[in-house]
Amino acid sequence: MTRLAGVAVTPDLEDYLDSLLAPRDAVMTRLEQEYEANNVPAVGPFVGALLLLLARTAGARRMLELGTATGYSAAWLLRSSEEARLVTLELDPARAAEARRNLAELGLGSRAELVERDALEYLRGDRETYDLVFNDLLNSFGSEAAVRECFSLSMERLRPGGLLIADNALRRGEVLNPKGQGAKNVVLWNRLVADDRRLDSSLIPLRDGVSVARLRD
Ligand SMILES: C[S@@+](CC[C@H](N)C(=O)[O-])C[C@H]1O[C@@H](n2cnc3c(N)ncnc32)[C@H](O)[C@@H]1O
Repeated sequence: MTRLAGVAVTPDLEDYLDSLLAPRDAVMTRLEQEYEANNVPAVGPFVGALLLLLARTAGARRMLELGTATGYSAAWLLRSSEEARLVTLELDPARAAEARRNLAELGLGSRAELVERDALEYLRGDRETYDLVFNDLLNSFGSEAAVRECFSLSMERLRPGGLLIADNALRRGEVLNPKGQGAKNVVLWNRLVADDRRLDSSLIPLRDGVSVARLRD
């Protein structure tokens, strides 16, 4: 196998990538400043732009997001199409309130259903079918059983041809030597995705790694 050792994304390369990003509007720029100042783990503009691109390419209309935080990634997903709708789950009431305000300010509030509930609990009772499921809370699960359940429930909710995406799929490199629960969760998710013959998948080493999979028709 040809190796590309040494082509890690250095801060200089990250600045270069940044220079290629389309400028964001004032509200998105404010959101970026706020999540950085408050240590909110949002996807950032590289992955945000990728989410928009994937959702638009897949023609996604009904989407599910696990982990809203302050609504930054939700905004990218919803901007993929004026017909796109998003159910997004957030346990933290303060973050959920902030996300509601942010999405309303961006004119996206009417297309977002923000549910303040545990993601797994919600998925257990959900009967909707989605074109795209974005899991952005892999780090938070307390056990491998929860990761397995989240994977299988997400797969049940996905329509054939739909996308299953997860952020932090490299977990700052900890996947090579997973010690904490968060890293173990990510390793397990990546394995479940890679081994599932119903999925075509890839892991994009953008920022902290993005797992992208498509359920075969
Ligand atoms: C990585 S952040 C989401 C960032 C957001 N997707 C973005 O990029 O703007 C994960 C969020 O999931 C929430 N969360 C953690 N465990 C949860 C659970 N079991 N159910 C619902 N939300 C949860 C956390 O409060 C946190 O705000």
